[in-house]
Amino acid sequence: MATMESLIGLVNRIQRACTVLGDYGGEGMSLWEALPSVAVVGGQSSGKSSVLESVVGRDFLPRGSGIVTRRPLVLQLHKTERGQSEYAEFLHAPKKRFADFAAVRKEIQDETDRITGKSKQISNIPIHLSIYSPNVVNLTLIDLPGLTKVAVEGQSETIVEDIENMVRSFVEKPNCIILAISPANQDIATSDAIKLAREVDPTGERTFGVLTKLDLMDKGTNALDVLEGRAYRLQHPWVGIVNRSQADINKNVDMIAARRKEREYFETSPEYGHLSSKMGSEYLAKLLSKHLETVIRQRIPSIIALINKTIDELNAELDRIGRPIAVDSGAQLYTILELCRAFDRIFKEHLD
Ligand code: GDP
Ligand code: NA
Ligand code: MG
Repeated sequence: MATMESLIGLVNRIQRACTVLGDYGGEGMSLWEALPSVAVVGGQSSGKSSVLESVVGRDFLPRGSGIVTRRPLVLQLHKTERGQSEYAEFLHAPKKRFADFAAVRKEIQDETDRITGKSKQISNIPIHLSIYSPNVVNLTLIDLPGLTKVAVEGQSETIVEDIENMVRSFVEKPNCIILAISPANQDIATSDAIKLAREVDPTGERTFGVLTKLDLMDKGTNALDVLEGRAYRLQHPWVGIVNRSQADINKNVDMIAARRKEREYFETSPEYGHLSSKMGSEYLAKLLSKHLETVIRQRIPSIIALINKTIDELNAELDRIGRPIAVDSGAQLYTILELCRAFDRIFKEHLD
């Protein structure tokens, strides 16, 4: 397992290097697309940003009612050695290390406004954020604006389609794992998340159904039909979640307290008690990590082929521009080349 951890870590680093440099996968499937990531899909205010935060176990995302997430956020989690201090880094400000996660949230907001203005408009230019921490699992997560039904004041007429197209451009990639977020206080038959997930992933092999707001259901109703797979069957089991409410957010209830509350909710629930070991944010994080391992294992042969092709292309590129070279782009090419070689080595060890 230790090796698989380092493998996923390398996947993260290659993804990041490819982002910095543009893509060196050549034509056909690019390296970026060959590597798995996880994206959240769902209606506005269904709890997407809250779920991502809980998966990470850190408070750092802008959340709230209305359209809060207005640019894609590509979030890479890097697991570091025990005892190392936690920090975050943005691609647009590479030399600045954020140790304060409230400042990370503010920077996401500011960077969103930098492109879109303080408006209700959206932009499909992603914000890239890396978090380094001993307390995370290695994952690439993508937070996306919520699907909506109508344009509100200050939004263009095409906003509904624009958001849908943006979200689709991420989740249609065959290696994107979809967290389809639906609130339990709305009918599952009206779920935008499920509708889009079904369109891009008809067999459901890369879709995880997440049911939020279980605490907000009408008295006398419950979500067992969904959670037990009777209402809408998915290949993977549904996971129920209780995120912080807006009142909790206003009161600054922290992540540790929120997780404790969520655990207690399931353990003491008369309806969901029997499912409690398979519910909640921590379980979802473990489930995702395990799934990623499986996906990477299955893809090892095709990723090796792609990596070898990338190494050839990088070598050709280095020959063309002449080596050794001091300029930044040359150094970055070397970095990717080194990562690819390390990757290739580890993959081959796994195959033996
Ligand atoms: P997003 O728009 O899908 O990213 O949703 P957010 O994560 O920003 O959450 C929208 C609002 O719903 C916030 O006020 C959250 O506090 C609230 N919310 C999200 N999930 C839950 C939940 O499970 N229970 C309760 N009570 N409120 C939630
Ligand atoms: Na929202
Ligand atoms: Mg959001």
